[in-house]
Parts: sequence; C-alpha cells; structure tokens
Amino acid sequence: MKKIALGLTAVALSLAATTSQAGQVEVLHWWTSGGEAAAIDVLKQEMKEQGDTWKDFAVAGGGGESAMTVLKSRAIAGNPPSAAQIKGPTIQEWGDLGFLENIDDVAKAGHWDKLLPPVVSKIMKYDGHYVAVPVNVHRVNWLWANPEVFRKAGASIPTTWDQFFVAADKIKKAGYIPLAHGGQAWQDATLFEAIALSEGTDFYKAAFVDLKDDALKGPKMVDALTKFKKMRQYVDPGFSGRDWNVATSMVINGKAAMQIMGDWAKGEFTAAGKRPGVDYVCLPAPGTSGQFTFNIDSLAMFKVSGKDTKKAQRDLARLVMEPKFQEVFNLKKGSIPVRLGMPRDKFDACADSSMDAFNAASATGDLVPSMAHGMAVNSMIQGAMFDVITNFFNSDSMTPEQAADKLARSVKAASM
Ligand code: BGC
Repeated sequence: MKKIALGLTAVALSLAATTSQAGQVEVLHWWTSGGEAAAIDVLKQEMKEQGDTWKDFAVAGGGGESAMTVLKSRAIAGNPPSAAQIKGPTIQEWGDLGFLENIDDVAKAGHWDKLLPPVVSKIMKYDGHYVAVPVNVHRVNWLWANPEVFRKAGASIPTTWDQFFVAADKIKKAGYIPLAHGGQAWQDATLFEAIALSEGTDFYKAAFVDLKDDALKGPKMVDALTKFKKMRQYVDPGFSGRDWNVATSMVINGKAAMQIMGDWAKGEFTAAGKRPGVDYVCLPAPGTSGQFTFNIDSLAMFKVSGKDTKKAQRDLARLVMEPKFQEVFNLKKGSIPVRLGMPRDKFDACADSSMDAFNAASATGDLVPSMAHGMAVNSMIQGAMFDVITNFFNSDSMTPEQAADKLARSVKAASM
C-alpha cells in the first residue's frame, strides 16, 4: 500500500467522512500558553458572535508535534476536526491524501489573492485552490532579553555571536542563567536554525530548503553546529524537557538573561503586562538583522458534511482574514498580520520592526522559511533533521563534523 509523507496509508482516504455537529466548528490547535490562549480566545469570541459553536480541540505541546500525532489518529478514524492548525508543506501532504476542503468561494469573496503576499497564498493552496486560511506571520529569528539582568551583570545585549559569548560569560559569572532554553527537539531546532541563518542566507537556503549535500555537511554547517554546542555551557541543568513558555518566564522574572525564540514569546511578555523596550528587549538573533525566518500559522479546512457545519467552517475562514481579527489576534499572539495594508498604530516597536524586516527581507531575498516550524521541508525530512540536531546537542561524544555528516545522510534517507 502506498505510504504517503504523513505516515498515513491510502486507507485513510476512504475514511475521510466526518460527523461534526450542526453549526459547530471543531478546531485543532496547540495554543495553550498564556499568550497563545489569550489570542485564540479572540477567534472563539468572534465565532460565538456569528452564532456558531466552537468546539475546542487543544493539544498542548509547543511546536505542535503532539497535536499532529493526535490529528493523524483522528483522521485515520474518519473523524477529523473541521479545521486544524497545519502549516507549510504539510498542507500539501494532507491535500495529497484528499482530506482538505476547497474554500475558493470564501477566498474570492474576501479578495485573498490581492490581500496576501504571494509567498503566503502559494502555501495556502493545494492544486491551485485555497484549502487553508493564514492567521499571521511569526518571525522566528529573535533574541529576547531582560535588560535588568544585563545591567546587573555589567554586560551588553549582543548583536553578534562573538558578543553573545562575551555577554553570556559575564552573566554566568554574575549568577544568572545566560540562556533560557527548553530541551525539546523543536526548541533545539529553533535555536540551531537561528545560528545557521547567521552563516548567510544562501547557505541557509542551500541546506534547509534545497537540501544540498555539500551545504548540509560543509564547513558552514560545522561552524553552526560548533556554536550551537557551545550553548550547552550557558543553559541551566534543568533545561531538559522544559516548555518554551516556562523558558520565557525565566527571562520575564529575571532568572535568565536571554531566550532565542520566535515572537510567540512576545505573547508571554504581553500577557504578563511587560512593556517592550522597558521590561524586555527584542532584537534579531545575533548576526541575522537583515534576515527574516518566517513561520506562518494557518488553519487548514477539512472536508465536513452538513449545511450548518459547512457554514460554520466558512465563517471561520472568512473571520480569520478580516482586519479586526488580524489586528486583535496578532496584538496578543506576538506576530504580525498576514493581511497586507493593515494599520500599524496599535502595534508595538517589536511588531513594527518585524513588519519592516519582512518587507526589507522580501526585497533583498533574505526572507526564508523556518525549518524548525515546518515551513521549509516536509514532516519526514524535518523529523530527520530534528533527530540529528537534538542528539548532537545532548551527546558528549559526537563531534560537529560527525553531526554534519549524519545530517546529510539522514536527509538523503528521508528524501527517498
Ligand atoms: C507556532 C506558534 C506557536 C509556537 C509555540 C509554533 O510552531 O507556529 O503559533 O505559538 O509553535 O507553540
């Protein structure tokens, strides 16, 4: 039987009929942290105002790995939700399996083709038809810093990796944790891809988009892996398995100086009532100021039956692209609107800088998809990369050269 990228078999196709209740939209997502929950509440409220019922299908776990596992078993059982947070090339995998609903009617009425950057609308379509609605644009290559900790340690907030290591030593000496990190595969990959990006956009694209063997095992990869491994000296012993938002709270409460994480971290600062530029500082990850690693959240629509269920699903798709939702949701989520031409006045300096960086990076070719957040490669290749990155980070014996070689070999095996 044909095995498709998601690891499902073609049998799943025949089981795709769903049984959602009338007028109800069931939405699978993994937005369960303080900032994330505040953001998704906006959509729940708006759906309620439309007279639709929201059935929450939240599966905790940053990066969405657990959510995707649960989604697969629900789909195989012939009972997928109406909508699920699915991103990037994975949308194509679900489309290949025949699960996704054509929502061209909503997109046409809402002028999505005009209101979305082409890099985004392409991802939302399967076989030329819209099957998903984009929610936001997250920038992944960010550094979040607590300026008070830096002040107390007599350190300067870094813009290069050399400066980072100097500052981290001072912070450690002063008794603080330099880098708040959670040892989970997707967080390791988030940190690693920020370091790899600083090796240059061409290198990043060659390794993580075009999967070129010589980039995957070449000197730039070895250098990135060497810097990545050095980070072990700057995380606290309790990092293993820690959730990303717990790591963010360590920066918020002054236990740690920095976190390298996408701007969903800003949602946590916002939910804690912290102000950018005062209580915390946002900066591009060291060495990546002109570059933008994008991560676009989207809700893919599954084939559902029943007039009311279909109506609720279409209400959902329509509302997500409307200016009101794009503003209120993104203010809470830490991301920027995906809809073009939105007013900026309510957004803070971090969002403003993200909007400028998105535009500038699009013009210079420095806008790249996030490997760690499922925007660059399919789920099998991403999984192969995660394994090598995490094993290397946690190994006491693997050299950067060995890890680079393993990365190239694993990617090749997963691509076959
Ligand atoms: C998602 C974000 C989410 C983050 C942490 C990312 O992959 O795109 O929306 O906040 O994971 O869970």
